[in-house]
Amino acid sequence: MDRYFRLIDKLKRERTLSAAEWTDLIEHRSQELSEYLFSLAREEQGLYYGKDIFVRGLIEFSNYCRNDCLYCGIRRSNRNARRYRLDEDEILSCCHEGYALGLRTFVLQSGEDASFTRDRLTNLVRRIRSSFPDCAITLSVGEWDEASFKAFFDAGADRYLLRHETYNPEHYAMLHPPSLCAQNRRQCLWSLKKIGYQTGTGFMVGAPGQTPEYLAEDMLFLKELNPQMVGIGPFIPHRDTPFKNETAGTLELTLFLLGCIRLMLPKVLLPATTALGTIHPEGRELGILAGANVVMPNLSPQGVRKDYLLYDNKICTGEESAQCRDSLERKINAIGYRTVTDRGDSLNL
Ligand code: 5AD
Repeated sequence: MDRYFRLIDKLKRERTLSAAEWTDLIEHRSQELSEYLFSLAREEQGLYYGKDIFVRGLIEFSNYCRNDCLYCGIRRSNRNARRYRLDEDEILSCCHEGYALGLRTFVLQSGEDASFTRDRLTNLVRRIRSSFPDCAITLSVGEWDEASFKAFFDAGADRYLLRHETYNPEHYAMLHPPSLCAQNRRQCLWSLKKIGYQTGTGFMVGAPGQTPEYLAEDMLFLKELNPQMVGIGPFIPHRDTPFKNETAGTLELTLFLLGCIRLMLPKVLLPATTALGTIHPEGRELGILAGANVVMPNLSPQGVRKDYLLYDNKICTGEESAQCRDSLERKINAIGYRTVTDRGDSLNL
């Protein structure tokens, strides 16, 4: 029993564990251990970020995707998905709405939609950059070559989110079509860092086939990459995917890993994700109490929100929508934190 408390102390002290220690810790976690972990994680978060929770506006601008990831509801072969894409003006008006609500970071996310070419995306970023010089622009638009990443950066994008999904190549191959590979994914992340993006990566918790050993590899990769942001959330099955009958990841393991990531990378920006809010009504508040410090309410137009369905039952009409800022703020205040609306750049630069 004591052994695992000591491992948490060691994680806090040395900011890392060996693969064997990670596996052991993940396998032997308990409620008591989690409570201890979360209290240290909150302390660490407080040291760097006080009680501040950063709010980002998420704009899901297209759900067309050329990829066929086995877990994802907007995979190419899902004929039941109702496809949409916003045009430039619609995206800009989401930004204007977000700005009026006080948001200073826009996260532009889409499937890998071939109609958004490098030039179109570059123009889009340039337009947002010139209309909102005081805002951060985060892209989450999948894998590109280094020259394209650079073009987006030069046009004014500051941050890029690209989850590595899983470090282990065999596990990666189980979750993805043969056209995608773990190595290329990671290469993209190194390119993004090299270019100068504040880079975010992450993975799904409880993805089919995931083992404690694979999670240990994910933790070691996070340590090595040392990203500015880490997004993790539970895997949730989608009814129109090959994984429809798989079980979802748990709240409990997701919270545990959030706490571990906070201790390993104390300055990291760590969102309490929509998926976490989807599997439990207080998921995001619990995420914050485990070490998360970012929330990303939805800024997409009401009419398309339900079509950006990566997994079943995604929440998108209540507090998670940017329009409900007041109620989001109340919930965050209720657990002793406050929302802040500045750009909230990473301290881990
Ligand atoms: N459950 C949870 N998360 C998912 N994602 C995609 N599909 C699912 C799902 N079924 C995550 C992936 C991707 C991010 C945008 O959403 O990790 O990187």
